[in-house]
Amino acid sequence: MKIITSIADFQHFRKSISTSLGFVPTMGALHKGHLSLIKSSINKCSLTVVSIFVNPGQFAPGEDLKNYPISTKKDIKFLQELKVDALFLPTTKDIYPEDFSTFVYENIVSKEHEGISRPSFFKGVITIVVKLFNIIYPTHAFFGEKDIQQLMVIKKIVKDLNYPVDIVSCPTVREKNGLAMSSRNQYLSSKMFNEASLVYRSLNHGLSLLKNGENNPKIIINAILNSLSESSLIKVDYISIVDPKHLKNINKIINSDIIICIAVYCGKVRLIDNVMYINRKY
Ligand code: PAJ
Repeated sequence: MKIITSIADFQHFRKSISTSLGFVPTMGALHKGHLSLIKSSINKCSLTVVSIFVNPGQFAPGEDLKNYPISTKKDIKFLQELKVDALFLPTTKDIYPEDFSTFVYENIVSKEHEGISRPSFFKGVITIVVKLFNIIYPTHAFFGEKDIQQLMVIKKIVKDLNYPVDIVSCPTVREKNGLAMSSRNQYLSSKMFNEASLVYRSLNHGLSLLKNGENNPKIIINAILNSLSESSLIKVDYISIVDPKHLKNINKIINSDIIICIAVYCGKVRLIDNVMYINRKY
C-alpha cells in the first residue's frame, strides 16, 4: 500500500491512474463500519484509496477535536491487510494553509437536524469532501448510512456542482447489541455501551408502530422518547421523522417512505443513528 502524505504527491500519483478509482474518506480510528465501505470499494473499483484526516473544520469550539481518537499505526496495518492500494494521510498545514479562506455550503439538506445542533458542521464536512474530491479525483466515493444526513448532503453537492463521482451508500454496521459502530464508541464505559443499545431498540420500536399503521410522527416520537427514558444516561438531542429525499420533517405519514433520525448524548458522548422504511430508490 502506498502511503501518500502530501497533496502534490497524490496529484502526481493520480496522473498514472486511468481505471476506476474508489475513495473512502475517513477520520481514522477505523472499525468495521469503515471496513464495509472499504470492502465495497474494493469489490466495485479497480483501485481503492482511503483517506485519514481528522478535519478540524467540522468541529466547533468545545467539541471533541482535541480528544478525537487517533490510532494511525493500527489503521495502517488494518488497511495493508485489506490490500488497499493507497492511503492519503495529509497534514493539516497542507490541507488548510494559513491563508485558507474558501468554504462550500449547501442550503437545503444540511439545514435541519445535525445542521441545527451543530451549525458549522456541514460547512466543514462539505469543504473537506470537496477538497478531497478535487485532490483524489475518484470515480466512486463510499459513504455510510449511519451518517444519513452527511450522505444526503454529499449526494446533493455532487448533483448541484456536477462532480463526476458516483456516490455509493453503505448500510450501517452495528455492534452485536445493535449500537451503530462509531469511532466515538470507545469513549463509552461498559455500562454506557450496554445502555446505548437502547437507542437502536427504541428506533425499532418506533418503526414497528409505523408498520402497524401509526401515521402520526408525534406519537411515534413520543413512544421513542418514552422507551429511551428507561436509561438515566441517555439524553436526547433530537428525534426527526423525515422524508428520504430532502430529509424534511413529515407532519403525517401517508403510505410514504421515511427515515427516523436520532442524536443522543450518552454521558458526554454524542451518538447518532437512524432507521429507514424505504421501498423506492433515492
Ligand atoms: P468518519 O466518522 O471516520 O466516517 C467515515 C465514513 O464511515 C462515513 O461515510 C461514515 O458514514 C462511515 N461510517 C462510520 N460508522 C459507520 C457504521 N457503523 N456503518 C457504516 N458506515 C459507517 O464521516 C466522517 O468520518 C467525516 O465526516 C468525513 C466524511 C471523513 C469528512 O471529514
